[in-house]
Amino acid sequence: MNHEFNRREFLKLAGLAGVGLAGAGMLNSCSASGQAGGASQVLAQARKSYRQHFNMSGFAAPKIETVRIGFIGLGMRGPGAVKRMNNIEGVEIKALCDLRPEKVAAAQKIVAGSHQPTAYSGSADAWKKMVDRDDIDLVYIATPWQLHTPMAVYAMERGKHVAVEVPAAVTLEECWQLVETSERTRKHCMMLENCCYDFFEMLTLNMARQGFFGEIIHGEGAYIHNLVDLNFSRKGYQDMWRLKENYRNGSLYPTHGLGPICQVMNINRGDQMDYLVSVSSNDFTMGATAKALAAQDSFYQEYAGKDFRGNMNTTTVRTKKGRTIMIQHDVSSPRPYSRIHLVSGTKATARKWPGPARIATSHDKWLSEAEFKALEKQYQPELISKLGEMAKKIGGHGGMDFLMDWRLIDCLRNGLALDQDVYDAASWSAMAPLSEWSVANRSNSIDVPDFTGGAWAKNTPVDITLRGGGTTKVKV
Ligand SMILES: NC(=O)c1ccc[n+]([C@@H]2O[C@H](COP(=O)([O-])OP(=O)(O)OC[C@H]3O[C@@H](n4cnc5c(N)ncnc54)[C@H](O)[C@@H]3O)[C@@H](O)[C@H]2O)c1
Repeated sequence: MNHEFNRREFLKLAGLAGVGLAGAGMLNSCSASGQAGGASQVLAQARKSYRQHFNMSGFAAPKIETVRIGFIGLGMRGPGAVKRMNNIEGVEIKALCDLRPEKVAAAQKIVAGSHQPTAYSGSADAWKKMVDRDDIDLVYIATPWQLHTPMAVYAMERGKHVAVEVPAAVTLEECWQLVETSERTRKHCMMLENCCYDFFEMLTLNMARQGFFGEIIHGEGAYIHNLVDLNFSRKGYQDMWRLKENYRNGSLYPTHGLGPICQVMNINRGDQMDYLVSVSSNDFTMGATAKALAAQDSFYQEYAGKDFRGNMNTTTVRTKKGRTIMIQHDVSSPRPYSRIHLVSGTKATARKWPGPARIATSHDKWLSEAEFKALEKQYQPELISKLGEMAKKIGGHGGMDFLMDWRLIDCLRNGLALDQDVYDAASWSAMAPLSEWSVANRSNSIDVPDFTGGAWAKNTPVDITLRGGGTTKVKV
């Protein structure tokens, strides 16, 4: 299978094949999984020694009283973000863009009466006209993965902050592009890792900060979510983009599990991922599904006979301080949903999935429900006390999406550093191409690039209080 061809074709269709900075380098590195030329490039990108232009960790941009947003990508995910932002004070929704005009029209209805966004649509690069405007502060991207970095880089180059869906990048070269562009332009590049705002994940982060777990030894996360039906549905992802991503073999969607664990371990801010090893099973379901569908419907013929990702990928990271992280990815086995979230320390353990979430302070039993509730009360983060109930009502994966969007806007309005910076976006996204390399090379280890250029040793942890902020009101 020719990954290079697929990626070139995709970008050509998306109007991006020649986009200066973003287009040029990206095409070289598209074959992360050890295709001719690809494997050595991945190694070079992984071992790159980097000197920062400017440290974006802890960077606070000037306050923006009213955050003017332009959205790109209004498929299944984007409209929820438009709806949530519509509930936040100090936001002006200036523009809505999608390749498909009907998606823009539907999103316009969500904000009718409160905002008058300009519509951009009809061509694969209509989004550039939107980004070129000088009255937009934040570009919010929820498009297929291959478009994330090109769009984010273009937006930062034009003076916009960026919030980009997960994963922020699909190749190591793209990860480096994000870092270099964010540092040079001093624009935020936040990956929208909503799971960092889930209630139990935030609780364990606050507990870790206060020493409840002692030294953190090990963490686990996952994305185990059966997407076979949705991936093969003609009415699901636009142009079947997510099914085609499954031609890559590795941990393709690592950030939901990895992000919260990296925050608990202060990765990029006191510790750093050092190297990883990754192993994938064979594919036992997707190829067979493609074949069965193709026998009934010629639409599926292009997918039959393709090499699909192995069902289960397990990737293990060792950090510079000698801790370990295990991340699993399986979107094609008939298993109940799980993101795991396990934190194991010298004094205590926490674990979610299978539910209910549990905490233990000894090896022989989990704490009782009453003891759990008492800890929940004692260690509840300020963001949850202030907005948790409201977020549950407004929704978005049980409320975590709203907490993330509100916190992003509140930080921008109050001139605070964001909870997730470009180093998080790059290092969490990098697990996909790194794992592809390892899987393609008999699970050999590969270095995790140090996107901070050594600054990780002195960077300070994310501030999980609302200090200096907390002023943004919610419109309900
Ligand atoms: N954080 C989460 O919990 C979560 C959940 C779901 C999806 N996502 C992410 O959101 C993103 C979008 O996923 P989705 O499920 O909405 O997919 P989707 O296919 O439903 O939507 C993608 C949209 O992008 C549009 N698009 C494609 N090319 C474009 C272009 N050149 N210009 C403008 N618009 C273009 C498509 O028309 C489509 O409407 C993905 O990155 C996905 O990983 C995140």
